[in-house]
Amino acid sequence: MLLTGDSRGVTVRATSKLNLFLEITGKRADGYHELESVFHEIDLGDNLTFEPAPALSLEVRGDGAPAGEDNIVMKAARLVASEIKTSAGARIILEKRVPSGAGLGGGSADAAATLLALDRLWNLSLPLPSLHALAARLGSDVNFFLEGRTALCTGRGEIVAPLPPHPPLHFLLLAPPFPTLTADVYRLFTFDLKAPRRVPTLLLSRLPAGEPTALEGGLFNRLEPAALAAEPRLVRVLAAAQRIGPSGARVTGSGSTVYMPVSSRTAAEKLATDPELSSLGRLIPASSAR
Ligand code: C5P
Repeated sequence: MLLTGDSRGVTVRATSKLNLFLEITGKRADGYHELESVFHEIDLGDNLTFEPAPALSLEVRGDGAPAGEDNIVMKAARLVASEIKTSAGARIILEKRVPSGAGLGGGSADAAATLLALDRLWNLSLPLPSLHALAARLGSDVNFFLEGRTALCTGRGEIVAPLPPHPPLHFLLLAPPFPTLTADVYRLFTFDLKAPRRVPTLLLSRLPAGEPTALEGGLFNRLEPAALAAEPRLVRVLAAAQRIGPSGARVTGSGSTVYMPVSSRTAAEKLATDPELSSLGRLIPASSAR
C-alpha cells in the first residue's frame, strides 16, 4: 500500500497479495474457517484517488468490479463515516487493474486503502487497532492490507502477525478468464481427517534465501482441491503452470489465479511470452511490493 497526500487529496496504490501458504485448521460455529496463512504483498495494484466533496461518490474505471454502493470501497467509506459520525464526503475514483474473483485480494486491498485514505483526508488520526476493528467488519483479508509486506494471518484471516523482512520475491501470475467465488470454494472444502496438519515452518525458514527453488517446497494451499472442484477449467491451467513454471505453481487463496515463482523480474517477463501459458489467461509479472 503506497499512500500520498493530505486533507486536499489522497492517492493510493492498493497493492494485492499472494497466499504462499494456507492451511485450514478448523470450522467455526459462524460458518467461517479458521486458517493459518502466509500472506505476501505484491506490486500489482489498483489506483485510488480521494478528493474532498460534499457527499460520498465512487467512479469505477476498468472491468470486473461493481459500481456504486455494491463496491467494497463504498462500504468501507460509509463504515468510516458512520463510525466517526461525520457528514464529510469524498469523491473517490477507483482504477481497477487487479482481476476480480482472482484470489489476489483486490477488493480487500481497495477497502483497506479506503480506510487509510479517509483517515488522512478527514484528518482523523485513528489508531491502528481502531482501523483493524473496522477492517475486520469489511472482510477477512482486509486487515492484512493495513500492514502489508509478508505476514502470518490466523483466525478467519483477520489476525495479522508481520514477519521479518526478506529479499524480494518474483512471480509470474496466470489469471484465467473466469473468476472463482470464495464462498463457493469454502463450501466445497471438506476436511480430510487423515491428512496431517501442515505448518509453514519450511516456508518461513526459506524466505530469507529469496530463491524460487528454495521456496518451492514450502508453498502450500489446502484450498487448492476445492478451487479446482469449484472451477474444473482451472485443472488444465494449474497443470500447465506446474509443468512450464521453473519452480512449480500454486493457486493463490480461493483462486482463480495461479502463480509461478521465478528467479527475477526478467525471468517473469521472459516466461510471460510462453505461447501455451498465454493461451490460458492473462500473464502478469509481479514482485514483492517492497
Ligand atoms: O470474509 P469474506 O467476506 O472475505 O469471506 C467471503 C466468504 O468466504 C465467507 O462468506 C465465507 O463463506 C468464506 N470464508 C470462510 N472462512 C474464512 C474466510 C472466508 O469460510 N476464513
